[in-house]
Amino acid sequence: MNANTHPALVGSLSTPNPSVKLINFSPGPTSLPKAVEDEIAASFKKPGLTSLALSHRSPEFLNILDHVTASVKRIMDIPDDYEVLFTHGGGHGQFAAVPLNLCHDKSDIATYIVNGTWTERARDEAQKYCTVHTIDGRDPHTGGYTTFPELTEEEIDPKSKFVYLCSNETVNGIENHRLPKLPESRRNIPLVIDASSDFTTKPIDWHGDGVGVLFACASKNIGHPGVTLTVVRRDLLGKDKASPLCPGVFNYTITVEAGNLWNTPATFNIEVVGYLMDWLEREGGVAENERRSIAKSRILYDVIDNSDGFYGTPVQEKALRSRMNIPFNIKGGDEELTDEFLIQSWNEGMVGLRTLTPFGVGEYLRASLYNGITEEDAASLADFMQRFARENSG
Ligand SMILES: Cc1ncc(COP(=O)(O)O)c(C=O)c1O
Repeated sequence: MNANTHPALVGSLSTPNPSVKLINFSPGPTSLPKAVEDEIAASFKKPGLTSLALSHRSPEFLNILDHVTASVKRIMDIPDDYEVLFTHGGGHGQFAAVPLNLCHDKSDIATYIVNGTWTERARDEAQKYCTVHTIDGRDPHTGGYTTFPELTEEEIDPKSKFVYLCSNETVNGIENHRLPKLPESRRNIPLVIDASSDFTTKPIDWHGDGVGVLFACASKNIGHPGVTLTVVRRDLLGKDKASPLCPGVFNYTITVEAGNLWNTPATFNIEVVGYLMDWLEREGGVAENERRSIAKSRILYDVIDNSDGFYGTPVQEKALRSRMNIPFNIKGGDEELTDEFLIQSWNEGMVGLRTLTPFGVGEYLRASLYNGITEEDAASLADFMQRFARENSG
């Protein structure tokens, strides 16, 4: 087989050997916890209609919607003055919806903390709808996205309608394990959080951190692509607040007033979010999930840090290293060894370590450790990495 067309090198997610356990380290869409996948399969065998066939206005679906909404609020400790929305258009939809809802016209100011690929994209989208001030989060020495900037009063215009950040930059592997605090004099400005790749893996202090809007596309930790969970503080809603150009389907106030049923929501995907929330609650909630995330990521960072430079990872500040997506390279990016690593790990059932993103394949491989990955799965990859390093050092 020509090396370049080897399935492992073009991102194949199947293994050659069906008896090998498949472990999906993809950055999303990806696998859900096994128990959730089993529950989805079982739901098709129950008598009656599944949510694939339910009218979104039927009492059966309304029960599902109420259950999911109440579960998300309880598990994520969302205060009563926030609304839970199930929105369309993925994370990118929210890149547009946020400024369209929070800025009335183009002259309204919004501050974007840009420290990775996704905040860059969100900022670029917002520039169509409002006046953007960027806080540049690049490392001043390397020019790369490997850190999170210090937030000073001078950099945040007090007239900002919101301050935007991504709590886990999925591609760059930079995570705020707790949301950063704005300088005292700017705490009245609502924070907008893209939590697409870390939602449910740590607690959120909604009021304490001044969260105005938080969104998470479902396809990483909480479900499948097709629905995005958006949480909005009620004081940001209002008939006249959004831009008159904001499409109805993106309009938070319209969505809330219609009880998430202004148009047809992604019914099945919403039900799946409910299964995930039930699983999370059974497993011990956010506190236990955070413990697992710490353990899963630590085992991989330990292998990298103790490899005498065989493996490298871009983010040096441990407090900012992502627990969700661990970027790593092999001998400084040695192409031959990297291909060999991908082929051998793929043969052992470990897939999704190099996937295409809108930003290319990237300089680093990446192990994504969402809710579908267990501590044992992470340990299997750590074992493989140690073995591979032993066999290829020197
Ligand atoms: C942090 C973050 N935000 C936004 C997105 C984009 O989401 P979508 O593809 O649902 O538009 C992604 C996707 O990987 C992401 O990781």
